[in-house]
Amino acid sequence: MGRYFEFPKSFLWGAATAAHQVEGNNRWNDWWAHEQNGALPFQSGIACNHYERYREDFDLAKSWGHNAHRLSVEWSRIEPEQGAWNRAAMEHYADVVDALRERDMEPVVTLHHFTNPAWFSRAGGWLGRDSTRLFARFVSHVAKHLPGVRYWLTINEPTVYVKNGYGAGHWPPFHAHAWLEAGRVIYRLARAHVAAYERLHDARDDVEVGFAHSAPFIVPCGRGGRGDTLAARARDFVLNDAFFWLVRACGATIRNSRPFDFIGINYYTRTIVRGASSGLGRLFGTECREDHHGDLGADNELEWPVYAPGLFEIAKKFAVFGVPILITENGIATADDDRRSAFIREHLVELAKAIRSGIDVRGYLHWTLMDNYEWTHGTQAHFGLAGVDPETGERKPRPSSRVFARICEINGVEERTGAG
Ligand code: FCB
Repeated sequence: MGRYFEFPKSFLWGAATAAHQVEGNNRWNDWWAHEQNGALPFQSGIACNHYERYREDFDLAKSWGHNAHRLSVEWSRIEPEQGAWNRAAMEHYADVVDALRERDMEPVVTLHHFTNPAWFSRAGGWLGRDSTRLFARFVSHVAKHLPGVRYWLTINEPTVYVKNGYGAGHWPPFHAHAWLEAGRVIYRLARAHVAAYERLHDARDDVEVGFAHSAPFIVPCGRGGRGDTLAARARDFVLNDAFFWLVRACGATIRNSRPFDFIGINYYTRTIVRGASSGLGRLFGTECREDHHGDLGADNELEWPVYAPGLFEIAKKFAVFGVPILITENGIATADDDRRSAFIREHLVELAKAIRSGIDVRGYLHWTLMDNYEWTHGTQAHFGLAGVDPETGERKPRPSSRVFARICEINGVEERTGAG
């Protein structure tokens, strides 16, 4: 038996989800359109049918001791045509928030999680001049109808959205290597965040507003000398730092140009970078996958190297902004549930270290409640604390859900090394 670390009182414990990945039948957004026309390899279809089964799902999360839950509201349901508000959809989300409150679970609500209404995409998506204003109007609408929400995430992983949609180009709108567009879109997303920040604060005094930032821990390989260091720095700047600079520039008039009340961190992986001599690699290097890094974590199903100490490093990195941190996603795609249990413990031990070192961490939202539609990987990635029967949709809690439940219940984690 090792010693226990006790997390701060009122620490938020829960799971994170996203509308398009769990709800089912999200027919009015760009992903759905491309799933139907074959541009995307898998169809979300009924997904987990969470739109109908959310009460049952929240009962499950509650039974696991969760006191918080992250969900996203689907813009395309709420505004299926420009300016036409769907009342039933908005009422649905009000019911969802009530259902969480009835269970004493704190809702953490994301306003944009990768999907756009089809009408918005047809008008150019985030390249459209009006995009920021349209998003801000949607945000005001939602804020007015969900007065019970205190924690808001404006945009999920802006850098991933841009990297996949305008860089790699394997996500809608499939504009590969469109670097100028990528620049415009990231700028608009930064402005959209700031506009949403203002709207949410206008609607309710005591809201906490942030965005969910994808934060890989990026380090140089070291075998290639200075080239590795420069490439790692460039990559770290572009993926981890640049969006904060943009948001601060766009929100220069707000609260000491810090238009975020907390930082949402989605942490999954470490990237070891090697300098390269051609193509984009000249700037950002390539990933080193050689096993000369003795501690290179085993990959998950998506080939993301797993590295728990990176969570502590990333928390340190973002603590410099002087606002609290909320872990808005952290999880592992694996069919081996023992690995998930070990992953949870090891990452929470790192988070405990961060808190002990004085970093203000407010909560931990595990990705994810149950296996779901994992974007271009469909149902082939298993991130869930529960599996889902493909025929009946029945939720099948995995042993790791109990491991996490125990941690939530005692609000603590055992700090033995190499726990597994
Ligand atoms: C994050 C996304 C989330 C899910 C996990 C695995 O990048 O925010 O929707 O896909 O990765």
